[in-house]
Amino acid sequence: MKVRKAIIPAAGKGTRLLPATKTQPKEMLPIYDTPVIQLVVEEAIKSGITEILIITGENKHSLEKHFDITNTGNGKLKEFNKLLEKVDITFKRQSNPRGLGDAILRAKNFAHGEPCAILLGDDFYLNCETPATKQLIDAYEKLGSSATIVGVENLSKEKMTKKGMIVVKKGSTEVERIIEKPDIDSVVSELAISGRYIVVPELFLKLEKVTESVRGEIELTDGLAELLNDKLTIHAHSIEGTRIDVGNPTEYLIANLKYAMLDESVKKEVIKVIKSELDN
Ligand code: G1P
Repeated sequence: MKVRKAIIPAAGKGTRLLPATKTQPKEMLPIYDTPVIQLVVEEAIKSGITEILIITGENKHSLEKHFDITNTGNGKLKEFNKLLEKVDITFKRQSNPRGLGDAILRAKNFAHGEPCAILLGDDFYLNCETPATKQLIDAYEKLGSSATIVGVENLSKEKMTKKGMIVVKKGSTEVERIIEKPDIDSVVSELAISGRYIVVPELFLKLEKVTESVRGEIELTDGLAELLNDKLTIHAHSIEGTRIDVGNPTEYLIANLKYAMLDESVKKEVIKVIKSELDN
């Protein structure tokens, strides 16, 4: 079955970005001139997705309003409006947030038995010839449109303890084990879950049975592990491009610089300022 639907969880509180996120959603923080969530939605639309469900929570009204189609604005906004005409976006509130797996479970009726893309709402990709989600959809189709696909990136041992870890079978992309935020002593792989997935409908049934992890959350990774327990196949796919996380203030600053400097004139200005700071 074709992947037409995408789920974007955007209900996180963004506590690591306080005070910026005191009253506004972290997904609405601008990366140079564009809110993060817009970059994520654009990726989904450019990947051929025609229906999007954004899972929201407290303080997310401005996020919903951002997807109203307006007739005013500059060139960039007009382009965005045109893209929005290609997609149906709906919102669902996660009123009692219990983790990423719980947020995804709210999309069970939306998925309605179809495979879905999942794009985490607080990271984005740069320098992709093919949009990140499209790369995963292509892999999904190439592998027979029946396996779950998890986007991965290579990470150091220390960084892996903050991510989901993937262990693949020798010489293959097939996933053997998947563990959320392993202890440093349990890190046996460099492949970390990168925030982009294509999931099969069975995932929702598994998530219904997942219990709280040690950190008190329903983990999406535990739902994926249940698919493996049931002998359902998952493949890891390395996404080509630069993944940009917006989790804390330093990452946020770097995200801004990297995105803004795609524009040569901005890049020149930024380099000038940095050089003069270094000379002082
Ligand atoms: C989530 C997932 C984790 C994944 C990460 C990517 O963790 O649970 O498996 O590696 O996103 O950013 P979080 O960053 O929400 O703690």
